[in-house]
Amino acid sequence: MAPEIRIAREAGACFGVERALKMVREAAAATTGPIKTLGPLIHNPRVVGELGQAGVEVTEDAVQEPGTTLVLRTHGVSPQVEEAAKASGATVLDATCPFVKSVHRAAERLSAEGYQVVLVGEKGHPEVEATLAHAPGALVVSSADEARKVELGHKVGVVVQTTQSKQRLGEVVAVLVARVDELRVMNTICAATSGRQRAASALAAKASVMIVIGGRNSANTRRLAEICLEACPNTHHIESEAELDPAWFCDAALVGITAGASTPREHIEQVRAAIERMVGE
Ligand code: F3S
Repeated sequence: MAPEIRIAREAGACFGVERALKMVREAAAATTGPIKTLGPLIHNPRVVGELGQAGVEVTEDAVQEPGTTLVLRTHGVSPQVEEAAKASGATVLDATCPFVKSVHRAAERLSAEGYQVVLVGEKGHPEVEATLAHAPGALVVSSADEARKVELGHKVGVVVQTTQSKQRLGEVVAVLVARVDELRVMNTICAATSGRQRAASALAAKASVMIVIGGRNSANTRRLAEICLEACPNTHHIESEAELDPAWFCDAALVGITAGASTPREHIEQVRAAIERMVGE
């Protein structure tokens, strides 16, 4: 009997990614000049490739010729980069996710109120780098262990990378509260990530096979794959249906599918259709 194929209740492109893709596709259709994204728009090589075919280039240079449309990506940029882009005469299209902007604003506010800003997040991630630039002197802490070692003032304000887990935030805060006189915590985690993780974990607990779709360079997709693997040893992280192996579905009763926050819905449907063909539905 062919297995049941079920997509996790929450999966795939989040609000911020959908919004950015719509902005770029509309701008590409409307402009006659060059259109470029400052760095890959999202962590999904397949989508970036598709945009490339539609004439959207990737650049690492904020300074562009007048007449060029330069798109700032979902992860956000530093104020200095944004100013340089605008000063160059390019038309700047800001696709920074509004939830990421909220982290910037929270960091700025805490810094203006005299707090030493601690950002709970992954060092080197573009979102983290951009947030740091909004609060001079801010530092990044990625674990409770690091929180024990960093040098702190008396008054500390915490903000969080949008894709971090509440558990990680709680662990770091538990350490910091014992080390400072005043601690203010702004929980800037985006619900899209935790919702996808909960739904993937619940489905993986029942599935014989779990398929996780998304860029291998996408931190939130890799985390989804880890979560699924804990509950379902037969978990496979793929970027497209071309990587599916029919042998994975032999004797499967339930095939679960989830996808990272930068995977468009159509890619999920393509994978589902390819599995259906393989299992002969
Ligand atoms: Fe924005 Fe949350 Fe997606 S911060 S880009 S809606 S994961």
